[in-house]
Amino acid sequence: MSNPINTKRNGRINVVLNQTRVEKDSKTLVYYSEQDKEKHEVLKKFEEKMNQYVGLKDVKRLINEIYAWLYVNRCREENGLKVSKQVLHMIFKGNPGTGKTTVARLIAEFFHDMNVLEKGHLLEVERADLVGEYIGHTAQKTREVIKKAQGGVLFVDEAYSLARGGEKDFGKEAIDTMVKAMEDQQHDFVLILAGYSKEMDYFMSLNPGLPSRFPISMEFPNYSLEELIDILMAMASEREYKLSQEATRHLREHIKIIRFEQERSFSNGRYIRNLVEEAIRKQAVRLLRGGLFERKHLETLEADDFNFQASRVNTQ
Ligand SMILES: Nc1ncnc2c1ncn2[C@@H]1O[C@H](COP(=O)(O)OP(=O)(O)OP(=O)(O)O)[C@@H](O)[C@H]1O
Ligand SMILES: [Mg+2]
Repeated sequence: MSNPINTKRNGRINVVLNQTRVEKDSKTLVYYSEQDKEKHEVLKKFEEKMNQYVGLKDVKRLINEIYAWLYVNRCREENGLKVSKQVLHMIFKGNPGTGKTTVARLIAEFFHDMNVLEKGHLLEVERADLVGEYIGHTAQKTREVIKKAQGGVLFVDEAYSLARGGEKDFGKEAIDTMVKAMEDQQHDFVLILAGYSKEMDYFMSLNPGLPSRFPISMEFPNYSLEELIDILMAMASEREYKLSQEATRHLREHIKIIRFEQERSFSNGRYIRNLVEEAIRKQAVRLLRGGLFERKHLETLEADDFNFQASRVNTQ
């Protein structure tokens, strides 16, 4: 395996250093000196990717910790010191559209860059992919899934549904098979169980053996109104669109109401993405109808392009 991390020539461990903050704003959490900058390319790449996303501070903090630990381990190894193993299986808790799958994909890539995972792909599955119809079928299905996830991240969405039917349910067999694979050294994968916070907590409480196997637990809170607006602006600008002032004002009001009305089912980032994509389609129809093909027309989304009242936007 190639080693993406260079160790300081004098062998000193020097990851979280004091001198220079790489960026002046709060986007970078790890401190390291200018001269060490190129040694931390992997972390920089991850941070650059993460900075395209709004919020998600806890994720950045966690990855910084894991990075520092892996880096220091590498340095310890080079100095003939014992290297500790850590379990990297995780629980992601949060409502729909709060970035769980997005973050899992970024973490898979990061682990690959850090040589923790051989392939770094993300395999996203749900109950139906793991649970079979007769005795023994579930273990077989689950083992096949784990095989495919080898070298990457296995992401089980709505993991609590595996405990749906209690003791007799085949879901339990899927859990047991996964736990066995996690303990088996041959299986080189990171398991992430994801779902709504309350349901995940309940699920973990039903399976006392599980919490200790998932030492990393991350909360994905609902985005605030400001964060949702930021996400919307970022999504529009990434697609080279702008919003008129009126559209921005209306959107703010609309999001404020819809967040409140839909509560738990509000799909955060996904709702915003659907809103933007629908507005782009509606704008296209408006421009075509009006024969408006100047640059200023092409790049501007107006309030009318957003279907605020009888929104056909799929909120899920
Ligand atoms: N912080 C963010 N900044 C920008 N876009 C975001 C952010 N969080 C989520 N999104 C966008 O919202 C959409 C949904 O995100 P994602 O699929 O990661 O959510 P999720 O938590 O996995 O949802 P679910 O539980 O429903 O599967 C994606 O298009 C993603 O790019
Ligand atoms: Mg998801």
